[in-house]
Amino acid sequence: MRKTSNSALSAMSERKKTAGTGAINEDEPLELASNIELTQSLTAFREWRRRAVDKAGAVKVGLVPTMGALHAGHMSLIEQAKKDCDIVVVSIFVNPLQFGPNEDYTRYPRTLSTDMKMLSDAGVHCVFNPSVEELYGQGAGTDATTVVVPPRFLIERLCGEFRPGHFEGVATVVCKLCNVVRPDYAYFGEKDYQQLQVVQRLVSDLNLNLEIRPVPIVREHDGLALSSRNAYLSKEERAKAPLIYQTLLQVKKHIFAENVPVEQALAEGRKRLGAEGFEVQYLQACDAETLAFLDTRKIPMVILTAAKLGAVRLIDNIIIRD
Ligand code: PAJ
Repeated sequence: MRKTSNSALSAMSERKKTAGTGAINEDEPLELASNIELTQSLTAFREWRRRAVDKAGAVKVGLVPTMGALHAGHMSLIEQAKKDCDIVVVSIFVNPLQFGPNEDYTRYPRTLSTDMKMLSDAGVHCVFNPSVEELYGQGAGTDATTVVVPPRFLIERLCGEFRPGHFEGVATVVCKLCNVVRPDYAYFGEKDYQQLQVVQRLVSDLNLNLEIRPVPIVREHDGLALSSRNAYLSKEERAKAPLIYQTLLQVKKHIFAENVPVEQALAEGRKRLGAEGFEVQYLQACDAETLAFLDTRKIPMVILTAAKLGAVRLIDNIIIRD
């Protein structure tokens, strides 16, 4: 096993010294499988890109945007990117603009060393991990930055209703990351289905020169969708959490196999989750593209939910395509 490049190591220790809002919690030495490049400034990334991509000629570049704390869900996006592309870039950036004032921005897990190890083992070529100041200047979290506002119909419902400003934050950072990395393909999980629709519209409405590639949800053996936030669940909450997926499957069965009216099937699903101690924010059946609420059977349909278990907010969905 080769050691990481000196530049990656020194960049990490540099970052540890200066970590403010983007604090890094770990300090173990790194032993990485490949010469994965860690870039933490725009200049460093652009230099790397010029060397690695521009000189190599006609290569396909894939971008997997993440907030780190990587798990098998993220890794399936990376696996797909590795299949499609010659060069794979993963961004790790906990984006303050997409967190509400009472959300978990400061305590969001930051595990850069472990993430680097996983990405190196997966054969990722470069990690882009800017600080907040590097990506936003002094503008993040204030009115002093340009913000991308997706179409209202896509962001006013579902997660957007409970997380005002969230999708503006996502659209803004994805636009910035794509402008820096200039990928041919960018990979997004169907786990965050509304985010995926927002990002698809961002690319087509702003004529970004890239293609969004959706990747299916990765689940635990008991059906719970993998999420960095699952780590916050207590043992009891973790035991209950798979009920979310079971409920989605039951609603699907009611609607498509048993001809139960859509609204009735959803109401029963909400009741079931509520009875088990979930605080259901929404459980809805939607048009798979516009996310308009549906009250009759239609394909493709997506059934989406967000529910809180204690302080932990979980989201999940199933897509019915045929
Ligand atoms: P994050 O939550 O780190 O997720 C990064 C990507 O991994 C997203 O596209 C998400 O949908 C995907 N993902 C997460 N869990 C998954 C699972 N169980 N199965 C499949 N894909 C999964 O989503 C974000 O970060 C941010 O909003 C970001 C797009 C990076 C912008 O800041």
